[in-house]
Amino acid sequence: MSVLQNDLFLRVLQGEDTARAPMWFMRQAGRYLPEYRALKEKHSFWQMARTPELAAEVTLQPVRRYAIDAAILFQDIMTPLPPMGVDIEFNPGPVIGTPIRTLAQIEALRVPEIDEITPFVGEAIRLIRSDCRVPLIGFGGAPLTLATYLIEGSGSKDYAQFRRFLRAEPHAAHALLEKLTEVSIRYLTMQVRAGAQAIQLFDSWAGLHDIPMYEAFSKPYNKRIFEALRPLGVPLLYLAVDCTHLYPTLGDLPCDAISIDWRTPIHVARAQLGHGKVIQGNLDPAALLGPPDSIRRAASVVLRSGLGGPHVFNLGHGMLLHTPPDHVTALVDTVLAFDRRAEHRSD
Ligand code: CP3
Repeated sequence: MSVLQNDLFLRVLQGEDTARAPMWFMRQAGRYLPEYRALKEKHSFWQMARTPELAAEVTLQPVRRYAIDAAILFQDIMTPLPPMGVDIEFNPGPVIGTPIRTLAQIEALRVPEIDEITPFVGEAIRLIRSDCRVPLIGFGGAPLTLATYLIEGSGSKDYAQFRRFLRAEPHAAHALLEKLTEVSIRYLTMQVRAGAQAIQLFDSWAGLHDIPMYEAFSKPYNKRIFEALRPLGVPLLYLAVDCTHLYPTLGDLPCDAISIDWRTPIHVARAQLGHGKVIQGNLDPAALLGPPDSIRRAASVVLRSGLGGPHVFNLGHGMLLHTPPDHVTALVDTVLAFDRRAEHRSD
């Protein structure tokens, strides 16, 4: 049963020009919230993600606290990978038990059937939908970003192992990306069937690459995922961080919205991405560390920059660990009070 009361987010993704920008925040469910930390004291990340009641609870925590316009499922981009046969821990970022470095390892990876990948995710989505007044965003990692962790083995400063692998073993890299694409299509289709009302593909590490490498190793796979999901009828969002140099090639991805980081004002990004896309973003997450007055000023700059077309207000990347929860309230109030029809673009 759906209890949806606020569809502003979905209407803007269909291109509607609304009086107020909808908002949600990447990593809105997480360690900056005391109610999340209380649960985390008793359960590991995987326990929370794999127990539908706990995953639903963490998803709904920020929705109860703030007047935000969307919920994002509490999982991780790595969630569909253990069923492929990969051992993953979090410390605090993903750490791969045996990093993938050979074609034989790639050939041994399983591509599970849609119902076998992560049944607990479908169950969590059904629980959330029965109790959520705003649309629920499902998500996954883009194949290139998933491969970055699988091959490097963990987060890294320059991802040299991964970038070497793409050049030394392009055939194996494409074999891995093919499998990740197929699993992603199944995993995301399962999320929509269970009730996810939008899908965001996180390509957090796309910005490591120049346009030719991006077009060889990321874009075709993202395109295939979006094309496979399109018939399901939910809006599709793509996150690109540190990707200003890729804007000339991102504009024709077959998705509805592009989530941009804070490095470029929205009106500038829009000119480069083309006007066919909804823009999501792009307050610097560090802005939330400053005092409330500075948060209000910074948010207003972003809101004005977004006036030239449909805009979903968000951060340029995930919420930082030391964000004070009451600073988020100041931000939410600023976005709620901003009337797009009464304002004029200030660029
Ligand atoms: O609130 C939400 O946004 C929903 C849940 C969510 C998590 N991970 C939970 C999580 C989402 C959307 C993600 C996506 C994710 N995970 C990305 C893409 C977005 C981005 O930040 O670029 C990436 C690259 C990851 C990989 C990952 N998982 C990292 C780097 C970390 C380290 C810690 C951190 O918070 O950045 C994780 C662990 C993780 N995933 C936590 C959470 C709440 C922290 C777990 C804990 O220690 O409590």
